[in-house]
Amino acid sequence: MAILYKSDPVRGAQWAALHRERAPDIDFRVWPDSGDSAGVHYLIAWSIAPDFLAQFPNLEVLFCTGAGVDRLGLANLPPGLPVVRMVEPGIVEGMGEFVTMAALSLHRDAYEYARLQARGEWKVLPVRPASATRVGVLGAGVLGRHVLGRLAAFGFDCAAWSRTRPAIADVAGFAGREELQAFLARTDVLVCLLPLTADTRGILSASLFAALPRGASVVNVGRGDHLVDADLLAALDGGHLAEAVIDVMHEEPLPAGHPFWSHPRVHLTPHIASETQIPTAVDALIANVRAHRDGRPMLGLVDRAKGY
Ligand code: NAP
Ligand code: GLV
Repeated sequence: MAILYKSDPVRGAQWAALHRERAPDIDFRVWPDSGDSAGVHYLIAWSIAPDFLAQFPNLEVLFCTGAGVDRLGLANLPPGLPVVRMVEPGIVEGMGEFVTMAALSLHRDAYEYARLQARGEWKVLPVRPASATRVGVLGAGVLGRHVLGRLAAFGFDCAAWSRTRPAIADVAGFAGREELQAFLARTDVLVCLLPLTADTRGILSASLFAALPRGASVVNVGRGDHLVDADLLAALDGGHLAEAVIDVMHEEPLPAGHPFWSHPRVHLTPHIASETQIPTAVDALIANVRAHRDGRPMLGLVDRAKGY
């Protein structure tokens, strides 16, 4: 019984070293050194080609190296195959840091001050308490809840929106499409932490932006396909939106010449809002494999019907 890792080879070597140290009883292989394919019972990957799994007749579980499983192509996988996304403390902490950084930068006008400095202009903008900035998080899952805890601790006026009503201390909870407008109407900083599914693709579009108050900003740390790029640019250029912090793109790396590269109000990072931290992720994988062997529930099991 072996686990096969198929993703970035440099990180794969780090996974293998730690895995062998912490679970020497479980054979851990790194692609392309997959050994006898019949011995592979667990695969961990970020993305796979549609026919890749056919070579592993005894595969029992597909794990994702990341929190979002959209690149595994759920629709192409055998219907009964359990898929498990990454839930580990390192990726959660990282997202808390990144969104806190973005929310504080927006709230304290860091992007405007950078533009003023570039123009050599000394100008004082109003300093407001965090409670005057209303942050709304789309998606109140493992990452969204953690982010909201961090933001609430700074005193931001926080709300969350998800399919089912979120119940989080000090956070206003909104549920479903019927409450989306009310959630957006009270949001100055909108953070997208949704999984990419058929329901959420393209959700960050002109109609959603129009429902935000004038002067609101958007932080997309979900997936590039949540965003309609042209609608964002129109909302920024028309003055309805103030700033956009964009960590994820339709195509990564973002192609040369894409208007985001040079837009003064778009602030880019190369999909680094959060990253699976190998030392803690190895423990999460080992715990899940042992749970599966023992017939216990695995943490992060994806609901194949919902797509996340
Ligand atoms: P999660 O625990 O599965 O949470 C997903 C949340 O989204 C849940 O609250 C869910 O609602 C809500 N949701 C799903 N579909 C919805 C819909 N149609 N309408 C309203 N709410 C919906 O996921 P997670 O671990 O927090 O991760 C979220 C996403 O973050 C990942 O899928 C990935 O795309 C992204 N991510 C990005 C980075 C980065 O570096 N940029 C890093 C890690 C993850 P319910 O609670 O009602 O089910
Ligand atoms: C990164 O984007 C992840 O989903 O883990």
